[in-house]
Amino acid sequence: MNYQSKKEEIEKSGKYRLLLSEEKIRKRIKELAAEISDDYRGRRPVFIGVLNGSFLFIADLVRELSIDCEVDFFKISSYGDAMVSSGKVKLKKDIDCHLEGKDVIVVEDIVDSGLSVCYLDEKIKAMQPNSLRFASLLIKWANAKPNRKIDYVGFSIPKEFVVGYGLDREQILRNLKSIYIMDEC
Ligand code: IMP
Ligand code: MG
Repeated sequence: MNYQSKKEEIEKSGKYRLLLSEEKIRKRIKELAAEISDDYRGRRPVFIGVLNGSFLFIADLVRELSIDCEVDFFKISSYGDAMVSSGKVKLKKDIDCHLEGKDVIVVEDIVDSGLSVCYLDEKIKAMQPNSLRFASLLIKWANAKPNRKIDYVGFSIPKEFVVGYGLDREQILRNLKSIYIMDEC
């Protein structure tokens, strides 16, 4: 079995509706990387991926940059395995690098309620970076109430549960190359 057969199985199951194809995701990430490279020309930003959901996005994003960068990761959880946020953010893994005086870009998979963004914004500001911006591949505008601007947004999507390209349902489906709306849970 190869990826193609897994993809066909997913698409024929009737449980998932294709929202964003691999090609669409790839194209948009190239655009975002070009924009970020222009904005940070001559600087060396630190990209902080928010695990687990952003692992594919950050990997693809930094490989399209034309500038140098550092990479580190936070791991937080607000969902557990549930489909709605527990309302509380827990730090599961801290970064190793020092952010004081650095240009920081937080890389999120999706902004849903905006709770994680609020938490990270506060936490990182206390570390006194030179600048702080947020990038998110997806944002559910109908839900999202982040307390700050999301500076780089891949796609605005409807208020539905999505899986694939890093996003999970009970820890699986992260390895799908496209993003799907999950109809049946
Ligand atoms: P927020 O704190 O409510 O903005 O969302 C935080 C996290 O919940 C995101 O970074 C995702 O990891 C997860 N999440 C939110 N919506 C979805 C979804 O539709 N599918 C999978 N994970 C999601
Ligand atoms: Mg996440």
